[in-house]
Amino acid sequence: MSKETLKANLREIPDFPIPGILFYDVTTLFKNPECLQEMLDSLYEMYKDKGITKVVGIESRGFIMGGALAARLGAGFVMARKPGKLPAEVVEETYAKEYGTDTIQIHKDAIDENDVVLLHDDLLATGGTMAATHRLVQRCGAKKIFINFIIELGGLNGRKAFPEDITVDTLLTL
Ligand code: PRP
Ligand code: MG
Repeated sequence: MSKETLKANLREIPDFPIPGILFYDVTTLFKNPECLQEMLDSLYEMYKDKGITKVVGIESRGFIMGGALAARLGAGFVMARKPGKLPAEVVEETYAKEYGTDTIQIHKDAIDENDVVLLHDDLLATGGTMAATHRLVQRCGAKKIFINFIIELGGLNGRKAFPEDITVDTLLTL
């Protein structure tokens, strides 16, 4: 299956959640068995030789492929969650959104300095959510970190949110 097929199966919804926004709906990729398998196979090929010990998925759409990929890689899976959801001691980062701020948390003991970490989310827009998650994982001591998205909105230049020396891979650039 090609990038074109993935793109053809991605649903576009105009004016969601507000007028003027074109929303890329990944649920149509997740529900399609061929697309789901193709995405997992492609991600596995990208990271199978990197020595990944933990995959961090970002709530909520990053949980789907993140969890599947962790299992396929033989790595652990860590949830990066919105505030108030994780029960044990957390570390958190707050980041600027277009209007106001948002906060992301992980358990303090989820990652340590020996981990090789893959950060995964479905979509790169401004990069604010992922950049905050990257800072969190660095604060936990991780030295080797990779970043991955299914979709990158190229026009928004979200890659600028990350340090230059970090590897950022995406399956589809729109
Ligand atoms: C969306 C998307 C990414 C993030 C990208 O999630 O799934 O996580 O926004 O935006 P950014 O690059 O500008 O930070 P959202 O916060 O809408 O939540 P959801 O995954 O729970 O639907
Ligand atoms: Mg999200």
